[in-house]
Amino acid sequence: MDIPQAQRLQRIPPYPFREINALKTKMIAEGAEPIDFGIGDPDMPTPDFVIQALAEAAQDPGTHPYDETGFGIPEYQQAIARFSKRRFGVEVSTAGEIQSCLGSKESLVHIIWAYIDPGDVVLVPDPAYSVYKVQTQWCGGAAFPMPLRAKNGFLPDLGAIPRSVAKAAKLLFLNYPNNPTGAIAPLHYLAEAVDFCRRHEIILVNDCAYSEVAYDGLQPPSVLQVPGAMDVAIEMHSLSKTFNMTGWRIGWAMGGKPFVAALSRCKSNVDSGTFMAIQRAAIVALDRYEEWVPQMQAEYQRRRDAFVSGLNSLGWNLQPPRATFYVWVPVPPGYDSASFAADLLRRCRVLAIPGAVYGEHGEGYVRFSLTIKGRDKLAQIDEAITAMRENLRIAW
Ligand SMILES: Cc1ncc(COP(=O)(O)O)c(C=O)c1O
Repeated sequence: MDIPQAQRLQRIPPYPFREINALKTKMIAEGAEPIDFGIGDPDMPTPDFVIQALAEAAQDPGTHPYDETGFGIPEYQQAIARFSKRRFGVEVSTAGEIQSCLGSKESLVHIIWAYIDPGDVVLVPDPAYSVYKVQTQWCGGAAFPMPLRAKNGFLPDLGAIPRSVAKAAKLLFLNYPNNPTGAIAPLHYLAEAVDFCRRHEIILVNDCAYSEVAYDGLQPPSVLQVPGAMDVAIEMHSLSKTFNMTGWRIGWAMGGKPFVAALSRCKSNVDSGTFMAIQRAAIVALDRYEEWVPQMQAEYQRRRDAFVSGLNSLGWNLQPPRATFYVWVPVPPGYDSASFAADLLRRCRVLAIPGAVYGEHGEGYVRFSLTIKGRDKLAQIDEAITAMRENLRIAW
């Protein structure tokens, strides 16, 4: 049968990492396993105490039916409220300001479906995680790019957004700590963004998927720390990167009640919530955050330091990123992002993602993820740097 796909599906590209995964699989089949700095999926296991909590909860038949609460079981919501208070000093109410989600991707998708009609405008960072733009287009909306430039610390210049665009926009996406640039947003920037959104009547969607992957003692802020942010903002959180739980599909949204209600209405028509045993395990994860997170951070920090100093020994002049497990590296002269990534793979067996995958303003960069799969990580970093030293002819 040759049944055409819906036009809305034909309008959007395949999910970028599908193609990168296919390339990697092909290399492995040909016997040339790459050193994989590709997808940002933690290579370390979920903490034992979380697995243990899941095993126990899964034994209880009470966790097996649908979660009929719609917002997540009350105990999970309470654990989120405790975490938010402890970590950010932010009080969130379990009566309508929290929504359990299937990771943060799902909440990001559904907030767009909840608000965007054909022709509506969404302000989207560029470069960025693909979901904000693709889902906007899927809904028939227009994604207006906000360039992330090195000279602005990879923060959107809100003053550069034309008045007419700001007036038309319904949603503005921010993501700090940032994928792919590794940048962070200070609280005063988030306060400016809240003010901008209030003045232009825009909902601020803050993607906090990497809020806990930070170094040197840094604690990235929540936008809800800004006084009055609940009036304009909703923030998406995830256990994926914090607790090495990407496959578990659990996270939450928190923010202003109308936004949480719209998200909830949208998602309840699509999915039926997270397995309640996983919610119970997530409670344990959040409650034992302090005993886990420092070791996760220390491990990436070791890799970050080894990788960045290796690159600097080859002639780069990089500051180590202060958060995320991404290193956003300008390509050497004579390359664009695709040709540099291709040379890395062909000549050095090093897999990195061309920055242009993340948008027009990602051109000129490649992204390395420190979530390296397989054997000794520092040894693989060393091999990658050696391969680059021996096989690339970089003319600085
Ligand atoms: C910026 C950003 N937001 C959200 C996500 C989604 O993660 P999850 O759905 O596992 O929480 C990712 C995943 O890589 C991401 O990079």
